[in-house]
Amino acid sequence: MISLNLQQKFTKMYRSHTNGELRIAHKGQEVVLSGWVQKIRNKGFMIWIDLRDRYGITQIIIDEDRCDKAIIDQAKDLGREFVIQVTGEVIERVAKNNKIPTGDIEILPSKITVLNASVTPPFTIEDKTDGGEDIRMKYRYLDIRRNPVKNNLIFRHKVAMEVRKYLSDQEFIEIETPYLIKSTPEGARDFVVPSRMNQGQFYALPQSPQTFKQLLMIGGMDKYFQIVKCFRDEDLRADRQPEFTQIDCEMAFVDQDDILNVFEGMTRHLLKTLKNVDVAEFPRMTYADAMKKYGNDKPDIRFGMEFAEINDIAQGKDFGVFDSQEMVIGIAVPGCSEYSRKQTDKLIKWVKRPQVGASGLIFAKYLADGTFKSSVDKFFNQDDLQKWADATGAKPGDLILVMCGDTDKVRSQMSALRMEMAETLGLRNPKEFAPLWVVDFPLLEWDEDSKRYHAMHHPFTSPKPEDMHLLDTDPGKVRANAYDLVLNGNEIGGGSIRIFDKDTQALMFDHLGFTPEDAQEQFGFLMNAFTYGAPPHGGLAFGLDRLVAILGGQETIRDFIAFPKNNSGRDVMIDAPSAIAGDQLDELALKLNLKTT
Ligand code: AMO
Repeated sequence: MISLNLQQKFTKMYRSHTNGELRIAHKGQEVVLSGWVQKIRNKGFMIWIDLRDRYGITQIIIDEDRCDKAIIDQAKDLGREFVIQVTGEVIERVAKNNKIPTGDIEILPSKITVLNASVTPPFTIEDKTDGGEDIRMKYRYLDIRRNPVKNNLIFRHKVAMEVRKYLSDQEFIEIETPYLIKSTPEGARDFVVPSRMNQGQFYALPQSPQTFKQLLMIGGMDKYFQIVKCFRDEDLRADRQPEFTQIDCEMAFVDQDDILNVFEGMTRHLLKTLKNVDVAEFPRMTYADAMKKYGNDKPDIRFGMEFAEINDIAQGKDFGVFDSQEMVIGIAVPGCSEYSRKQTDKLIKWVKRPQVGASGLIFAKYLADGTFKSSVDKFFNQDDLQKWADATGAKPGDLILVMCGDTDKVRSQMSALRMEMAETLGLRNPKEFAPLWVVDFPLLEWDEDSKRYHAMHHPFTSPKPEDMHLLDTDPGKVRANAYDLVLNGNEIGGGSIRIFDKDTQALMFDHLGFTPEDAQEQFGFLMNAFTYGAPPHGGLAFGLDRLVAILGGQETIRDFIAFPKNNSGRDVMIDAPSAIAGDQLDELALKLNLKTT
């Protein structure tokens, strides 16, 4: 066994300090540094090397007067990204660089050792690189050497450490659950793994550890958490990856308030320790209100532009477009009353894009002099438009935008427009944090494709007792003890209070279209466990990638994952997924039946 001393000696062989460490106080010391050659500037009589490692950059200076010719020749042969070791003296720089912490000093080398050469990297390893996304993903290990990626990964580590500290202090215990499991229905497709020892049978990779954490509560663990990989075979977006990480949590003997309080506390702690931001008590909004006011179950409340339903003042004025529709919604966009024809036309075009799908957009400018000018002046006089202003909260100088249609559709279209306007007006300030609990989600949602109800959260979520009577008559109206944590318009977490008795769970499966046999076959293990004294329990899971990205002021989670997949679910660096050998298929008793397109 290597003793600690020997180990220390061994690492000291490569460096006495890191490249972010040396200051003027080290002047005169002999040091050993190791790292990558970021940049070489060769002026003939003098050569400067920027030596980089995770901790920073230190300048090496080689000049004809003070260095051996051998070192000068060696320096001339170095290339970008060579790994070198430099032994030398810390000297004071003549021209200081106040942009980097080591900018007061430089190293005059007495020895340079090339530890490894490098071919020319395919893109510049600098903060602003010339490499596009694809090439950076292919050479992700080089991308990780760049500050923006490196700092994101370090930030992610800090968030994870704070989470572990906080939850551990609150007596949560981190417990690992298996990755080779049986399918849990969380709404996405499973990734499956064929079993060699049980031919024709498959494991599923967990979409979340949902059933296991519930079993841990039945096992008496009381407070569980796990920073855990989850796998979902779903279409990808900026905030979705096929494998992502949850901070998964569960508690026994709790009601909804207990859960919200604990995890609000954790989120507040993270905001304070990592961003030095104090946030007041998180508002709580029902799902129904969120849909009504923002047309969205994850509203961004950093800015206003709340919806006003204006059917009563917009209909019955002979304007056929409004009169024939189920819902008319208006918003007041601050400071845009002077929009030109070109600008309003652009907005109309924007809402008509297939991604938004609106049939049109009506606007009324509330001019600074207190009068209105609208695209429907023929039907609405100044008094009518004043009512629109009162309803939407518009002030002189604002632009009122109105859309109409089927309630669900127009809400979602207006929500898209509201976000677009906020983006245009720079109202989505990444340094501002506006968390919000959305509560009382519907238990079930209708799926047009399968023509049946699906669990909106998951099938283990408990219905609100006061709505139970609606299960048979109006299932879509039953509310659940389910909640989401929303931060800056992103769902960063979600959870529920669970069903903990066999009969209610069986009833739920029945409503979800499972036969008793199917329910028993797939979830018998959980329902049986409920019969052995299951405590009341509930929990939630944060999306760690999303949480980290938003705390980091961004929304693309890929930038906070060391080795992410691209939009087609591929890892372009290792080239996965890939075909497997014929004998591997044979061993698994699998036969491919590929569709040719
Ligand atoms: P849910 O499905 O809401 O709940 O997931 C919890 C959180 O995980 C994040 N998330 C994702 N992040 C990145 N890529 C994805 N593909 C992805 N899918 C989800 C979101 C989301 O809020 N078992 C329940 C939790 C519970 O009930 O306790 C669950 O998984 O931020």
